[in-house]
Amino acid sequence: MTAADLVGLYAPPARRRWVRSNMVSTLDGSATGADGRSGSVNTPSDHRVFAVLRDHADAVLVGAGTVRDEGYTRLSPTRRSPVPAALVAVTRSGRVPEGLRTPTDGRGAGLLVTCSAAGERRLGRARSVLGDENVLVRGDDTVDLPAALDALAERGLRRVLLEGGPSLLGTALAAGVVDEMALSLVPRVVGGDNPRIVAGPPLTAPDGVALRPHLLLEESGTLCGLWRTR
Ligand SMILES: NC(=O)c1ccc[n+]([C@@H]2O[C@H](COP(=O)([O-])OP(=O)(O)OC[C@H]3O[C@@H](n4cnc5c(N)ncnc54)[C@H](OP(=O)(O)O)[C@@H]3O)[C@@H](O)[C@H]2O)c1
Repeated sequence: MTAADLVGLYAPPARRRWVRSNMVSTLDGSATGADGRSGSVNTPSDHRVFAVLRDHADAVLVGAGTVRDEGYTRLSPTRRSPVPAALVAVTRSGRVPEGLRTPTDGRGAGLLVTCSAAGERRLGRARSVLGDENVLVRGDDTVDLPAALDALAERGLRRVLLEGGPSLLGTALAAGVVDEMALSLVPRVVGGDNPRIVAGPPLTAPDGVALRPHLLLEESGTLCGLWRTR
């Protein structure tokens, strides 16, 4: 399959807002390898899809835990996407992950989405580091994800790629804001007691979140698919 084929197959529909998650899992359902990072279970085929999904995104939305654990930095332009996506970290504590502080040098914006529970001191510090306009406070005790996504869409960040981690994906599914899930299933089994791709309380409605398959590809043993929630 050519790169152009992949770009076409993964093009998101034109909507006011489209939230697509992307995760990788081993055959035994692990979201990480033994080192506690997803990078150790990725495959070259999964990487190809990962890059195409990023090229289609206005914003990459990530839990602060993953920004820290996976060493995210603000995003650079790519050949296909000369306007770099914004990196948006979600945090209840309001702590600014190091990766959002990356120097500008042509990279995309770094935004923090948090809630009042972070407290005035943390919010003040975040604003002084990132700039007032890059700190979005939505929600009181927890981040109000629908309101946060509306605020991003108002800035023109309509195509949102949610790259985890499992806690953020769990709350996003519970809030009903995920339109589509991309999943790469890699041909490997790691055992152990690692996280799955979705964490948090059981999802109801009435028995989990129902999805329908939209796309399924195979390359060198890796299955890459898209499932839609509605
Ligand atoms: N397999 C994959 O595709 C994949 C993808 C991503 C990550 N991972 C792996 O997942 C692990 C991390 O898991 P995780 O569940 O801890 O990641 P996470 O969801 O990225 O991080 C959890 C932290 O993010 C913030 N957060 C997440 N959801 C939030 C919400 N709805 N509202 C407010 N804050 C929120 C909180 O930060 P504060 O503490 O600052 O409040 C929370 O402590 C790592 O091992 C990583 O490598 C795997």
